[in-house]
Amino acid sequence: MKICPSILSADPTKLGEEIRSIEKTGADSIHWDVMDGNFTEAITFGHHIIANHRKLTELRFDVHLMVINVERHIENFALAGADMIIIHPESTIHLHSSLSIIKSLGKKTGLALNPTTSINVIDYCFDVLDMVLVMGVNPGSSGQEFIQSQLRKISELKNLLPASMEICVDGGITDQNIRQCKECGANSFVSGSYIFKNANYSNAIQKLKES
Ligand code: DX5
Ligand code: ZN
Repeated sequence: MKICPSILSADPTKLGEEIRSIEKTGADSIHWDVMDGNFTEAITFGHHIIANHRKLTELRFDVHLMVINVERHIENFALAGADMIIIHPESTIHLHSSLSIIKSLGKKTGLALNPTTSINVIDYCFDVLDMVLVMGVNPGSSGQEFIQSQLRKISELKNLLPASMEICVDGGITDQNIRQCKECGANSFVSGSYIFKNANYSNAIQKLKES
């Protein structure tokens, strides 16, 4: 089971220190929420920020691109040091092509499903898919409440996907709802506010693992 802290909820005035703190906790990756002010209202990190933090840690960098015309940006984030690039089907006209570009750059692929996006979109991109990410909230900010209807989506994915596939839940995860998500079949969790609002990040991650 993987826990992937979202750096969006970290203290933006000391991202480097925050990454070093997370590295000591046994977290499985750093999750970068990239927003462009169009796909989402907010604007967050560009590829330069990620590239500048790449040298601080060996942890997997998962880059979650919430940007339109995503195919224009994939190479920059690959060169910045992403290990996995997660995209939304709504962000590109040619989804299979965009996922294939990520693969051709030697990176793992993730497909993020908004709360109202059906799992049907996966049917024809199995061959270029390493991870499916179920959004527990609408993209745009951390600290939102988990949308319960996504539990059924996790169960449907569990039935559809090979056991080796990473099924990740992103948004609204707490020690109160993570068990339900695990029981439905999720094996990876992004967490922003739950971890970073806790004074002790290791304790928070441990609690999520044990819940
Ligand atoms: C939402 C982002 C999430 C979010 C998670 O657009 O994709 O990764 O930062 O934050 P919490 O865990 O606080 O919902
Ligand atoms: Zn995310």
